[in-house]
Amino acid sequence: MDKLVVHGGSTLRGAINISGSKNASLPILAAALLTEEDCIIRRVPDVSDTNYMIQIISALGADVERSSGTVRITCADIMDEAPYELVRRMRASVCVMGPLLARKGRCVVSLPGGCVIGDRPIDLHLRGFEALGAKIEFEGGNITLTAPDGLRGAEIDLRGTHGPTVLGTDNVMMAATLAEGITVIESAAAEPEVLDLANFLNSMGAKITGAGTRRIVIEGVKKLHGVEHTVIPDRIEAGTFMAAAALAGEGVTLHRVCRDHMKAITAAIELSGHRVEFNESGCSCTIHRGDVLQGVEITTAPYAGYPTDMQAQMTALLATTPGISVIKDTIFPQRFMHCAELKRMGADIKVDNGTAVVRGVAQLSAAPVMASDLRASAALVLAALTAKGSTEISRLYHIDRGYEHIDEKLLMLGANVERVKDR
Ligand code: EPU
Repeated sequence: MDKLVVHGGSTLRGAINISGSKNASLPILAAALLTEEDCIIRRVPDVSDTNYMIQIISALGADVERSSGTVRITCADIMDEAPYELVRRMRASVCVMGPLLARKGRCVVSLPGGCVIGDRPIDLHLRGFEALGAKIEFEGGNITLTAPDGLRGAEIDLRGTHGPTVLGTDNVMMAATLAEGITVIESAAAEPEVLDLANFLNSMGAKITGAGTRRIVIEGVKKLHGVEHTVIPDRIEAGTFMAAAALAGEGVTLHRVCRDHMKAITAAIELSGHRVEFNESGCSCTIHRGDVLQGVEITTAPYAGYPTDMQAQMTALLATTPGISVIKDTIFPQRFMHCAELKRMGADIKVDNGTAVVRGVAQLSAAPVMASDLRASAALVLAALTAKGSTEISRLYHIDRGYEHIDEKLLMLGANVERVKDR
Protein backbone atom coordinates (compact mmCIF):
# COMPACT_ATOMS: atom_id res chain seq x y z
CA MET A 1 0.00 0.00 0.00
CA ASP A 2 1.41 3.37 -1.00
CA LYS A 3 1.18 6.53 1.02
CA LEU A 4 1.69 10.13 -0.02
CA VAL A 5 3.92 12.43 1.95
CA VAL A 6 3.11 16.09 1.33
CA HIS A 7 5.63 18.64 2.61
CA GLY A 8 3.44 21.72 3.01
CA GLY A 9 4.31 25.26 2.05
CA SER A 10 5.35 25.12 -1.62
CA THR A 11 3.72 27.53 -4.03
CA LEU A 12 2.05 25.90 -7.05
CA ARG A 13 2.84 27.43 -10.43
CA GLY A 14 2.62 26.46 -14.08
CA ALA A 15 0.15 24.44 -16.13
CA ILE A 16 -1.20 20.88 -16.34
CA ASN A 17 -3.61 18.99 -18.58
CA ILE A 18 -6.80 17.68 -17.03
CA SER A 19 -7.51 14.01 -17.84
CA GLY A 20 -10.59 12.45 -19.39
CA SER A 21 -13.52 11.94 -17.06
CA LYS A 22 -13.49 8.79 -14.92
CA ASN A 23 -17.24 8.88 -14.41
CA ALA A 24 -17.91 9.28 -18.13
CA SER A 25 -15.38 6.55 -19.05
CA LEU A 26 -16.87 3.85 -16.80
CA PRO A 27 -20.33 3.57 -18.42
CA ILE A 28 -18.86 4.21 -21.88
CA LEU A 29 -16.47 1.24 -21.47
CA ALA A 30 -19.48 -0.86 -20.41
CA ALA A 31 -21.52 0.40 -23.38
CA ALA A 32 -19.00 -1.19 -25.76
CA LEU A 33 -20.63 -4.51 -24.72
CA LEU A 34 -23.65 -3.44 -26.81
CA THR A 35 -21.96 -4.13 -30.15
CA GLU A 36 -19.85 -6.86 -31.69
CA GLU A 37 -17.92 -4.26 -33.71
CA ASP A 38 -14.75 -2.36 -32.65
CA CYS A 39 -15.07 0.64 -30.32
CA ILE A 40 -12.16 3.04 -29.93
CA ILE A 41 -12.37 5.25 -26.86
CA ARG A 42 -9.84 8.04 -26.34
CA ARG A 43 -8.79 9.91 -23.16
CA VAL A 44 -9.75 7.11 -20.81
CA PRO A 45 -7.87 8.04 -17.62
CA ASP A 46 -5.32 5.55 -16.32
CA VAL A 47 -6.91 5.06 -12.88
CA SER A 48 -7.75 1.87 -11.05
CA ASP A 49 -11.53 2.23 -11.56
CA THR A 50 -11.16 2.19 -15.36
CA ASN A 51 -8.75 -0.76 -14.97
CA TYR A 52 -11.41 -2.65 -12.97
CA MET A 53 -14.01 -1.94 -15.63
CA ILE A 54 -11.63 -3.17 -18.34
CA GLN A 55 -11.00 -6.34 -16.31
CA ILE A 56 -14.75 -6.89 -15.91
CA ILE A 57 -15.56 -6.51 -19.60
CA SER A 58 -12.52 -8.66 -20.50
CA ALA A 59 -13.80 -11.37 -18.15
CA LEU A 60 -17.14 -11.11 -19.97
CA GLY A 61 -15.35 -11.95 -23.22
CA ALA A 62 -14.30 -8.57 -24.62
CA ASP A 63 -11.01 -8.27 -26.44
CA VAL A 64 -9.40 -5.09 -25.05
CA GLU A 65 -6.20 -3.26 -25.98
CA ARG A 66 -5.09 -0.16 -24.08
CA SER A 67 -2.30 2.22 -24.99
CA SER A 68 -1.74 5.73 -23.63
CA GLY A 69 -5.31 6.70 -22.96
CA THR A 70 -6.84 4.95 -25.98
CA VAL A 71 -8.84 1.79 -25.40
CA ARG A 72 -9.92 -0.47 -28.27
CA ILE A 73 -12.69 -2.91 -27.38
CA THR A 74 -14.19 -5.71 -29.46
CA CYS A 75 -17.05 -7.69 -27.95
CA ALA A 76 -17.63 -10.27 -30.70
CA ASP A 77 -18.96 -12.87 -28.32
CA ILE A 78 -19.79 -12.15 -24.69
CA MET A 79 -21.02 -13.99 -21.63
CA ASP A 80 -23.84 -12.82 -19.39
CA GLU A 81 -22.40 -13.49 -15.92
CA ALA A 82 -20.05 -10.95 -14.36
CA PRO A 83 -17.55 -12.51 -11.90
CA TYR A 84 -18.15 -11.52 -8.25
CA GLU A 85 -14.42 -11.18 -7.48
CA LEU A 86 -14.14 -8.29 -9.96
CA VAL A 87 -17.58 -6.75 -9.54
CA ARG A 88 -17.31 -6.42 -5.74
CA ARG A 89 -14.33 -4.06 -6.09
CA MET A 90 -16.25 -1.23 -7.70
CA ARG A 91 -19.84 -0.08 -7.41
CA ALA A 92 -19.87 1.29 -10.95
CA SER A 93 -19.59 -2.28 -12.23
CA VAL A 94 -23.42 -2.36 -11.96
CA CYS A 95 -23.47 -0.49 -15.25
CA VAL A 96 -22.67 -3.66 -17.20
CA MET A 97 -26.25 -4.77 -16.37
CA GLY A 98 -28.02 -2.56 -18.93
CA PRO A 99 -25.78 -3.53 -21.89
CA LEU A 100 -25.77 -7.27 -21.02
CA LEU A 101 -29.53 -7.38 -20.57
CA ALA A 102 -30.07 -5.56 -23.87
CA ARG A 103 -27.64 -7.70 -25.88
CA LYS A 104 -28.02 -11.13 -24.23
CA GLY A 105 -31.55 -10.98 -22.77
CA ARG A 106 -30.08 -12.13 -19.45
CA CYS A 107 -27.43 -11.10 -16.93
CA VAL A 108 -26.17 -12.15 -13.55
CA VAL A 109 -24.34 -9.53 -11.49
CA SER A 110 -23.54 -9.44 -7.75
CA LEU A 111 -25.33 -6.87 -5.65
CA PRO A 112 -22.86 -4.09 -4.86
CA GLY A 113 -21.76 -4.10 -1.22
CA GLY A 114 -21.66 -1.26 1.32
CA CYS A 115 -19.99 2.02 0.54
CA VAL A 116 -18.23 4.38 2.90
CA ILE A 117 -19.94 7.50 1.46
CA GLY A 118 -23.39 6.25 2.41
CA ASP A 119 -26.15 3.83 1.57
CA ARG A 120 -26.05 3.25 -2.20
CA PRO A 121 -28.99 1.11 -3.27
CA ILE A 122 -29.75 0.17 -6.88
CA ASP A 123 -33.55 -0.01 -6.53
CA LEU A 124 -34.00 2.70 -9.19
CA HIS A 125 -31.87 0.79 -11.74
CA LEU A 126 -34.01 -2.29 -11.10
CA ARG A 127 -37.24 -0.29 -11.29
CA GLY A 128 -36.17 0.82 -14.77
CA PHE A 129 -35.23 -2.70 -15.97
CA GLU A 130 -38.52 -4.07 -14.63
CA ALA A 131 -40.48 -1.40 -16.49
CA LEU A 132 -38.67 -2.48 -19.69
CA GLY A 133 -39.98 -6.00 -19.07
CA ALA A 134 -37.09 -7.71 -17.28
CA LYS A 135 -37.75 -10.29 -14.59
CA ILE A 136 -35.63 -9.82 -11.46
CA GLU A 137 -34.45 -12.57 -9.10
CA PHE A 138 -32.13 -12.39 -6.09
CA GLU A 139 -30.12 -15.37 -4.92
CA GLY A 140 -26.86 -15.80 -3.03
CA GLY A 141 -26.01 -12.08 -3.26
CA ASN A 142 -26.54 -12.06 -7.03
CA ILE A 143 -29.20 -10.41 -9.16
CA THR A 144 -30.40 -12.26 -12.23
CA LEU A 145 -32.23 -10.21 -14.85
CA THR A 146 -34.00 -11.99 -17.68
CA ALA A 147 -35.91 -10.81 -20.72
CA PRO A 148 -35.97 -13.85 -23.02
CA ASP A 149 -38.32 -12.16 -25.50
CA GLY A 150 -36.37 -8.90 -25.48
CA LEU A 151 -37.04 -5.57 -23.76
CA ARG A 152 -39.97 -3.31 -24.61
CA GLY A 153 -40.01 0.51 -24.42
CA ALA A 154 -41.83 2.09 -21.46
CA GLU A 155 -42.34 5.35 -19.56
CA ILE A 156 -40.15 5.32 -16.46
CA ASP A 157 -39.75 7.85 -13.64
CA LEU A 158 -36.29 7.45 -12.09
CA ARG A 159 -36.64 9.99 -9.26
CA GLY A 160 -35.48 8.71 -5.86
CA THR A 161 -35.59 10.29 -2.41
CA HIS A 162 -32.23 11.99 -3.07
CA GLY A 163 -33.10 13.09 -6.60
CA PRO A 164 -32.13 11.48 -9.91
CA THR A 165 -29.61 8.66 -10.27
CA VAL A 166 -26.61 9.03 -12.58
CA LEU A 167 -25.63 5.38 -13.14
CA GLY A 168 -29.30 4.35 -12.96
CA THR A 169 -30.09 6.72 -15.86
CA ASP A 170 -27.04 5.37 -17.75
CA ASN A 171 -28.06 1.77 -17.15
CA VAL A 172 -31.69 2.15 -18.24
CA MET A 173 -30.69 4.32 -21.23
CA MET A 174 -28.22 1.64 -22.40
CA ALA A 175 -30.79 -1.14 -21.98
CA ALA A 176 -33.43 0.87 -23.86
CA THR A 177 -31.22 1.43 -26.94
CA LEU A 178 -32.01 -2.12 -28.14
CA ALA A 179 -35.57 -2.35 -26.72
CA GLU A 180 -38.55 -2.56 -29.03
CA GLY A 181 -40.36 0.79 -29.25
CA ILE A 182 -39.94 4.04 -27.38
CA THR A 183 -38.67 4.54 -23.83
CA VAL A 184 -39.14 7.80 -21.95
CA ILE A 185 -37.03 8.38 -18.83
CA GLU A 186 -38.52 11.11 -16.62
CA SER A 187 -36.51 12.65 -13.74
CA ALA A 188 -33.35 11.55 -15.54
CA ALA A 189 -29.91 12.62 -14.31
CA ALA A 190 -28.62 15.52 -16.43
CA GLU A 191 -24.91 15.26 -15.59
CA PRO A 192 -22.45 15.92 -18.47
CA GLU A 193 -21.27 12.31 -18.07
CA VAL A 194 -24.78 11.08 -18.96
CA LEU A 195 -24.76 13.30 -22.04
CA ASP A 196 -21.33 11.98 -23.04
CA LEU A 197 -22.64 8.40 -22.80
CA ALA A 198 -25.69 9.34 -24.90
CA ASN A 199 -23.40 10.91 -27.52
CA PHE A 200 -21.34 7.70 -27.56
CA LEU A 201 -24.50 5.58 -27.95
CA ASN A 202 -25.88 7.84 -30.69
CA SER A 203 -22.61 7.51 -32.59
CA MET A 204 -23.14 3.72 -32.36
CA GLY A 205 -26.50 4.19 -34.08
CA ALA A 206 -28.81 4.63 -31.05
CA LYS A 207 -31.66 7.15 -31.25
CA ILE A 208 -31.55 9.16 -28.04
CA THR A 209 -32.82 12.70 -27.59
CA GLY A 210 -33.02 14.91 -24.50
CA ALA A 211 -29.86 13.61 -22.77
CA GLY A 212 -28.52 16.35 -20.51
CA THR A 213 -32.10 17.25 -19.50
CA ARG A 214 -34.53 15.64 -17.06
CA ARG A 215 -36.45 13.86 -19.86
CA ILE A 216 -34.67 11.42 -22.15
CA VAL A 217 -36.42 9.71 -25.08
CA ILE A 218 -34.91 6.56 -26.58
CA GLU A 219 -36.24 4.96 -29.75
CA GLY A 220 -35.06 1.38 -29.78
CA VAL A 221 -32.99 0.13 -32.74
CA LYS A 222 -32.22 -3.45 -33.86
CA LYS A 223 -28.42 -3.23 -33.72
CA LEU A 224 -25.58 -0.91 -32.73
CA HIS A 225 -22.26 -0.58 -34.53
CA GLY A 226 -18.63 0.30 -33.73
CA VAL A 227 -17.56 3.86 -32.95
CA GLU A 228 -14.65 6.20 -32.14
CA HIS A 229 -15.17 8.58 -29.25
CA THR A 230 -13.18 11.00 -27.09
CA VAL A 231 -14.24 11.21 -23.44
CA ILE A 232 -15.07 14.65 -21.96
CA PRO A 233 -12.67 16.32 -19.48
CA ASP A 234 -12.96 15.31 -15.82
CA ARG A 235 -14.78 18.23 -14.18
CA ILE A 236 -14.08 16.87 -10.69
CA GLU A 237 -10.35 16.51 -11.29
CA ALA A 238 -10.40 20.04 -12.72
CA GLY A 239 -12.31 21.31 -9.66
CA THR A 240 -9.84 19.58 -7.33
CA PHE A 241 -6.89 21.32 -9.02
CA MET A 242 -8.81 24.61 -9.00
CA ALA A 243 -9.13 24.25 -5.23
CA ALA A 244 -5.42 23.34 -4.96
CA ALA A 245 -4.53 26.44 -6.98
CA ALA A 246 -6.79 28.62 -4.82
CA LEU A 247 -5.17 27.25 -1.67
CA ALA A 248 -1.51 27.23 -2.65
CA GLY A 249 -1.12 28.59 -6.15
CA GLU A 250 0.09 31.62 -8.01
CA GLY A 251 -1.54 31.75 -11.43
CA VAL A 252 -1.95 28.00 -12.02
CA THR A 253 -3.39 27.15 -15.45
CA LEU A 254 -5.50 24.08 -16.23
CA HIS A 255 -5.77 22.96 -19.86
CA ARG A 256 -8.39 20.61 -21.36
CA VAL A 257 -11.26 21.71 -19.13
CA CYS A 258 -14.82 22.48 -20.13
CA ARG A 259 -16.06 25.84 -18.78
CA ASP A 260 -19.73 24.94 -19.18
CA HIS A 261 -19.37 21.89 -16.95
CA MET A 262 -17.54 23.86 -14.26
CA LYS A 263 -20.03 26.66 -13.56
CA ALA A 264 -21.14 25.64 -10.05
CA ILE A 265 -17.59 24.82 -8.93
CA THR A 266 -16.18 28.03 -10.41
CA ALA A 267 -18.95 30.07 -8.74
CA ALA A 268 -18.19 28.57 -5.30
CA ILE A 269 -14.45 29.20 -5.63
CA GLU A 270 -15.06 32.77 -6.82
CA LEU A 271 -17.57 33.42 -4.03
CA SER A 272 -14.87 32.58 -1.49
CA GLY A 273 -12.75 35.37 -3.00
CA HIS A 274 -10.55 33.79 -5.70
CA ARG A 275 -10.73 34.50 -9.43
CA VAL A 276 -11.00 31.97 -12.23
CA GLU A 277 -10.21 33.28 -15.70
CA PHE A 278 -11.17 31.14 -18.71
CA ASN A 279 -9.76 31.60 -22.20
CA GLU A 280 -12.18 32.45 -25.00
CA SER A 281 -12.89 28.87 -26.00
CA GLY A 282 -13.51 27.90 -22.34
CA CYS A 283 -11.07 24.99 -22.44
CA SER A 284 -8.27 26.49 -20.34
CA CYS A 285 -8.46 28.48 -17.12
CA THR A 286 -6.10 30.26 -14.77
CA ILE A 287 -6.82 30.50 -11.06
CA HIS A 288 -5.76 33.69 -9.28
CA ARG A 289 -5.62 33.38 -5.52
CA GLY A 290 -7.67 36.12 -3.85
CA ASP A 291 -6.48 38.62 -1.21
CA VAL A 292 -9.81 39.10 0.54
CA LEU A 293 -11.39 35.75 1.33
CA GLN A 294 -14.67 34.80 2.98
CA GLY A 295 -16.68 31.78 4.07
CA VAL A 296 -19.42 30.47 1.77
CA GLU A 297 -22.58 28.38 1.96
CA ILE A 298 -22.73 25.38 -0.35
CA THR A 299 -25.45 22.80 -0.81
CA THR A 300 -24.76 19.86 -3.10
CA ALA A 301 -27.37 19.14 -5.74
CA PRO A 302 -27.79 17.20 -8.97
CA TYR A 303 -26.22 18.86 -12.03
CA ALA A 304 -26.18 21.84 -12.75
CA GLY A 305 -25.99 22.29 -8.97
CA TYR A 306 -22.84 21.99 -6.88
CA PRO A 307 -21.49 18.39 -7.19
CA THR A 308 -21.25 16.11 -4.16
CA ASP A 309 -17.98 14.85 -5.67
CA MET A 310 -16.42 18.29 -4.97
CA GLN A 311 -17.79 18.62 -1.43
CA ALA A 312 -14.79 17.21 0.46
CA GLN A 313 -12.21 19.21 -1.55
CA MET A 314 -14.16 22.46 -0.99
CA THR A 315 -14.33 21.68 2.74
CA ALA A 316 -10.52 21.45 2.72
CA LEU A 317 -10.24 24.81 0.95
CA LEU A 318 -12.69 26.46 3.35
CA ALA A 319 -10.90 25.02 6.41
CA THR A 320 -8.33 27.82 6.05
CA THR A 321 -10.62 30.46 4.51
CA PRO A 322 -11.47 33.21 7.03
CA GLY A 323 -15.10 33.29 8.21
CA ILE A 324 -17.76 30.65 8.65
CA SER A 325 -18.74 28.27 5.86
CA VAL A 326 -21.71 25.93 5.82
CA ILE A 327 -21.55 22.86 3.57
CA LYS A 328 -24.58 20.64 3.19
CA ASP A 329 -24.56 17.36 1.24
CA THR A 330 -28.10 16.46 0.20
CA ILE A 331 -27.04 13.60 -2.08
CA PHE A 332 -24.81 11.66 0.31
CA PRO A 333 -25.55 13.15 3.77
CA GLN A 334 -23.03 10.78 5.41
CA ARG A 335 -20.15 11.79 3.14
CA PHE A 336 -18.13 13.66 5.81
CA MET A 337 -15.44 11.14 6.78
CA HIS A 338 -12.74 13.60 5.70
CA CYS A 339 -13.82 16.06 8.41
CA ALA A 340 -12.55 13.88 11.27
CA GLU A 341 -9.14 13.70 9.55
CA LEU A 342 -9.10 17.44 8.75
CA LYS A 343 -9.84 18.11 12.44
CA ARG A 344 -6.74 16.07 13.33
CA MET A 345 -4.83 18.63 11.26
CA GLY A 346 -6.33 21.48 13.29
CA ALA A 347 -9.45 22.34 11.26
CA ASP A 348 -12.46 23.68 13.17
CA ILE A 349 -15.39 21.71 11.71
CA LYS A 350 -18.65 20.53 13.26
CA VAL A 351 -20.67 17.95 11.36
CA ASP A 352 -24.31 17.37 12.15
CA ASN A 353 -27.09 15.85 10.13
CA GLY A 354 -25.48 16.05 6.68
CA THR A 355 -24.07 19.55 7.25
CA ALA A 356 -20.55 20.71 8.09
CA VAL A 357 -20.00 24.10 9.73
CA VAL A 358 -16.42 25.20 9.09
CA ARG A 359 -14.71 28.07 10.92
CA GLY A 360 -11.66 29.00 8.90
CA VAL A 361 -8.38 28.80 10.85
CA ALA A 362 -5.14 30.58 9.91
CA GLN A 363 -3.17 27.38 9.17
CA LEU A 364 -3.46 23.61 9.51
CA SER A 365 -0.63 21.48 10.82
CA ALA A 366 0.64 18.16 9.51
CA ALA A 367 -0.55 14.88 11.02
CA PRO A 368 -0.65 11.28 9.89
CA VAL A 369 -4.07 10.91 8.24
CA MET A 370 -5.96 8.14 6.55
CA ALA A 371 -7.83 8.32 3.26
CA SER A 372 -11.34 6.81 3.53
CA ASP A 373 -12.65 7.24 -0.02
CA LEU A 374 -11.68 8.86 -3.29
CA ARG A 375 -12.78 12.46 -2.74
CA ALA A 376 -11.98 12.43 0.99
CA SER A 377 -8.38 11.55 0.12
CA ALA A 378 -8.22 14.40 -2.39
CA ALA A 379 -9.39 16.74 0.39
CA LEU A 380 -6.54 15.56 2.64
CA VAL A 381 -3.97 16.18 -0.12
CA LEU A 382 -5.32 19.71 -0.57
CA ALA A 383 -5.24 20.43 3.16
CA ALA A 384 -1.67 19.13 3.36
CA LEU A 385 -0.42 21.51 0.63
CA THR A 386 -0.51 24.52 2.97
CA ALA A 387 -0.26 22.73 6.33
CA LYS A 388 2.79 23.32 8.51
CA GLY A 389 5.08 20.30 8.27
CA SER A 390 4.87 16.99 6.42
CA THR A 391 1.53 15.19 6.22
CA GLU A 392 1.47 11.44 5.61
CA ILE A 393 -1.67 10.26 3.85
CA SER A 394 -2.05 6.50 4.01
CA ARG A 395 -4.32 4.19 1.97
CA LEU A 396 -3.47 6.06 -1.20
CA TYR A 397 -5.20 3.40 -3.30
CA HIS A 398 -8.40 5.37 -2.71
CA ILE A 399 -7.04 8.38 -4.62
CA ASP A 400 -5.59 6.15 -7.36
CA ARG A 401 -9.14 4.96 -8.11
CA GLY A 402 -10.02 8.28 -9.70
CA TYR A 403 -7.11 10.72 -10.07
CA GLU A 404 -4.70 10.00 -12.91
CA HIS A 405 -1.09 10.30 -11.66
CA ILE A 406 -2.02 12.96 -9.09
CA ASP A 407 1.45 12.97 -7.50
CA GLU A 408 3.10 13.59 -10.89
CA LYS A 409 0.71 16.44 -11.69
CA LEU A 410 1.32 18.04 -8.29
CA LEU A 411 5.09 17.71 -8.78
CA MET A 412 4.76 19.39 -12.20
CA LEU A 413 3.12 22.34 -10.43
CA GLY A 414 5.95 22.55 -7.90
CA ALA A 415 4.37 20.81 -4.91
CA ASN A 416 6.73 18.90 -2.65
CA VAL A 417 5.14 15.43 -2.58
CA GLU A 418 6.50 11.87 -2.52
CA ARG A 419 4.81 8.54 -2.99
CA VAL A 420 6.34 6.00 -0.64
CA LYS A 421 5.63 2.36 0.17
CA ASP A 422 3.73 1.99 3.44
CA ARG A 423 5.28 -0.70 5.64
N1 EPU B 1 -29.99 6.20 -5.17
C1 EPU B 1 -31.09 5.47 -4.78
N2 EPU B 1 -31.42 4.35 -5.53
C2 EPU B 1 -30.72 3.97 -6.63
C3 EPU B 1 -29.62 4.73 -7.03
C4 EPU B 1 -29.27 5.86 -6.28
O1 EPU B 1 -31.74 5.79 -3.79
O2 EPU B 1 -31.10 2.98 -7.26
C5 EPU B 1 -29.60 7.40 -4.40
C6 EPU B 1 -28.19 7.33 -3.86
O3 EPU B 1 -28.14 6.63 -2.63
C7 EPU B 1 -27.81 8.79 -3.72
C8 EPU B 1 -28.51 9.42 -4.93
O4 EPU B 1 -29.56 8.50 -5.30
O5 EPU B 1 -28.33 9.34 -2.55
C9 EPU B 1 -27.65 9.68 -6.13
O6 EPU B 1 -26.88 8.52 -6.44
P1 EPU B 1 -26.49 8.15 -7.92
O7 EPU B 1 -27.18 6.91 -8.32
O8 EPU B 1 -26.65 9.35 -8.79
O9 EPU B 1 -24.94 7.81 -7.75
P2 EPU B 1 -24.15 6.86 -8.72
O10 EPU B 1 -24.70 6.95 -10.07
O11 EPU B 1 -23.99 5.53 -8.10
C10 EPU B 1 -22.41 8.62 -9.56
C11 EPU B 1 -20.94 8.84 -9.48
C12 EPU B 1 -20.56 9.21 -8.06
C13 EPU B 1 -21.33 10.47 -7.69
C14 EPU B 1 -22.83 10.25 -7.85
C15 EPU B 1 -23.65 11.49 -7.59
C16 EPU B 1 -20.05 7.35 -11.15
C17 EPU B 1 -19.24 6.16 -11.47
N3 EPU B 1 -20.24 7.63 -9.87
O12 EPU B 1 -22.71 7.54 -8.69
O13 EPU B 1 -19.17 9.51 -8.10
O14 EPU B 1 -21.05 10.83 -6.36
O15 EPU B 1 -23.11 9.81 -9.19
O16 EPU B 1 -23.30 12.53 -8.46
O17 EPU B 1 -20.47 8.07 -12.03
C18 EPU B 1 -16.99 9.70 -7.26
O18 EPU B 1 -16.59 9.86 -8.42
O19 EPU B 1 -16.27 9.93 -6.26
C19 EPU B 1 -18.35 9.24 -7.03
C20 EPU B 1 -18.74 8.66 -5.90
